[in-house]
Amino acid sequence: MAKKRVVLAYSGGLDTSVIVRWLTDRGFEVITYTADVGQGEELDYIPEKAKLAGAVEAIVEDVREEFAREYCLPTLRALALYECKYPLTASLSRPLISKKLIEIAKKVGADFVAHGSTGKGNDQVRFEVSAWALAPDVEVLAPVREWEFKSREEEIEYAKRHGIPVPVTKEKPYSIDRNLWGVSIEAGVLEDIWQEPPKDAWQITVDPEEAPDEPEYVTVTFEEGTPVAVNGRRFEKLYELIEELNKIGGRHGVGRVDMVENRLVGIKSRELYEAPAAFILYKAYDELLSLTTERFTYHYHIEHVRHQYATLVYNGLWFSKQREALDAFNDTLAKDVTGDVRLKLYKGGIWVVGRRSPNSLYVEDLATYSPKDAFDHEAGKFFTKVWGLPLKVAGRVREEREKKNR
Ligand code: ARG
Repeated sequence: MAKKRVVLAYSGGLDTSVIVRWLTDRGFEVITYTADVGQGEELDYIPEKAKLAGAVEAIVEDVREEFAREYCLPTLRALALYECKYPLTASLSRPLISKKLIEIAKKVGADFVAHGSTGKGNDQVRFEVSAWALAPDVEVLAPVREWEFKSREEEIEYAKRHGIPVPVTKEKPYSIDRNLWGVSIEAGVLEDIWQEPPKDAWQITVDPEEAPDEPEYVTVTFEEGTPVAVNGRRFEKLYELIEELNKIGGRHGVGRVDMVENRLVGIKSRELYEAPAAFILYKAYDELLSLTTERFTYHYHIEHVRHQYATLVYNGLWFSKQREALDAFNDTLAKDVTGDVRLKLYKGGIWVVGRRSPNSLYVEDLATYSPKDAFDHEAGKFFTKVWGLPLKVAGRVREEREKKNR
């Protein structure tokens, strides 16, 4: 009988290495897949590690540009923040990785894909729902949810017994997930939600109080809704532009979030996020969007798009018609989002200080208080009269009723 084949999302860490062996022991032929989504780790050693653990093949792929263009950019155009705070860093890489797992599974004739997420997080949902959306018959395996190890020690014991390299460094005090769009940090001492995060928890931003005493100005240029230049320097690759903004923002300590969020599985959990580039781009994009979009449509974006988009991405529904439809809406508005935004970064803060666009709807002779004013002031009188009518009517009826009851 042919062996059962499985494609495993492989990080190179202890858990996923043990999974390789654990699945091999259960009669699987394991092919590992590792995506470079900008996690900032050396990936050259990955194939060797995977094979040492028992993988028959180890695939490593640089998907940074695809991640930037097809996942980060639409989320930027949606200005999506889960619970108005979290720019969805980890939530965005999962659907991409799932898509890749499925593509490889189809190519090599594997009926199974696998991931290393636990049973109490959001990531299992994102991996599995994405996989099923793309390949409804695929079976998804999540060994961490069902295996026998009760502790990390038992896992290490198993690894040692099977010749799987165990990290020599002390166990990291946090669980960290990092990609181009940002870093998520949880667990360890952070589980005491009253305590301020220790300095060493933060990975890519300096403490605001240790940031330079001089502000830094940065200009971001957009063309039809895509950021293309920073301080006049053009970037062909969007991921490189994002990396540059992470560096600039990181040294001013911008883009930090400390929140207790509602996980999809029903628990509240504390997570730190660092996303300097994402927050700078959100501020800049929003500025141009508001400048180039007439009021009704801009308000629709604020009231109906941002929150809905964030919720669906957080909840693992990336490969849904709703996401595609919201993208179509955002792409329509994005066509006018061309221009420059000047921002000031200073000790953890980001301020927009200037904006310009060939599509700007800011009309100076309408806005001005100078003699050049072209606004029809007389129209204001009638406009206000009609606008205020509902409240005036309500006031009149209330007064009459009060008079009667006296
Ligand atoms: N809570 C975040 C989310 O659900 C991040 C999950 C991964 N975080 C981590 N530190 N391992 O999107």
